[in-house]
Amino acid sequence: MPANLSGMPEVATAPPTSAEPAAVPHTTPVAPELAWSDALSLSMPVMDQTHVEFVELLAVVQQAEDADLVAHWQALVEHTEEHFAQEDRWMLATGFAPGSCHLTQHAVVLKVLKEGLELGQQGQLQPIRQMAHELTIWFPHHAQTMDSGLALHLKSVGYDPITGEVAQPEALPTQAISGCGGSCSGDDGETADNTANHAQKEAA
Ligand SMILES: [Fe+2]
Ligand SMILES: [Fe+2]
Repeated sequence: MPANLSGMPEVATAPPTSAEPAAVPHTTPVAPELAWSDALSLSMPVMDQTHVEFVELLAVVQQAEDADLVAHWQALVEHTEEHFAQEDRWMLATGFAPGSCHLTQHAVVLKVLKEGLELGQQGQLQPIRQMAHELTIWFPHHAQTMDSGLALHLKSVGYDPITGEVAQPEALPTQAISGCGGSCSGDDGETADNTANHAQKEAA
């Protein structure tokens, strides 16, 4: 499975070669590797609340017994789909181009997480365990680069995430933002690549 994009793991999915049916291996719950802290706060309550929920759902996945793992992973994937869609809406409402790197990274990561769900539903649990570990590395980096840049951008134009109103429309960009905006606007592609490389090294 080509699941090594944007820092997510490449997982072995080859079928067993033996004629004997392979026993489904047991996997192991682990202690949560990521906890919410002020260092993850972006001083944007709606975004922070979503991120708190993400961290909590990820911790539940990491601690889940095999019998519950796929259901908890599905809950995380569904939450992440809305999490990313929410940020995508904010970006598109405030001048980001549809193909900009933050939106693209959301799409790539969500695709990988859904592939993990499909594997889990087929009885392969190890990919989910590995992806959960990868997310504990990927998320802080994503939050502190792309999401942080987005939060600063939204504040700069006076965007209200509840009403969708822009208080300072004169501050909106005159040309669509093709990068991430904010803190990573100059080298967004490089930032995304580094995220992938870092996570892959961590997984090795
Ligand atoms: Fe986010
Ligand atoms: Fe994001």
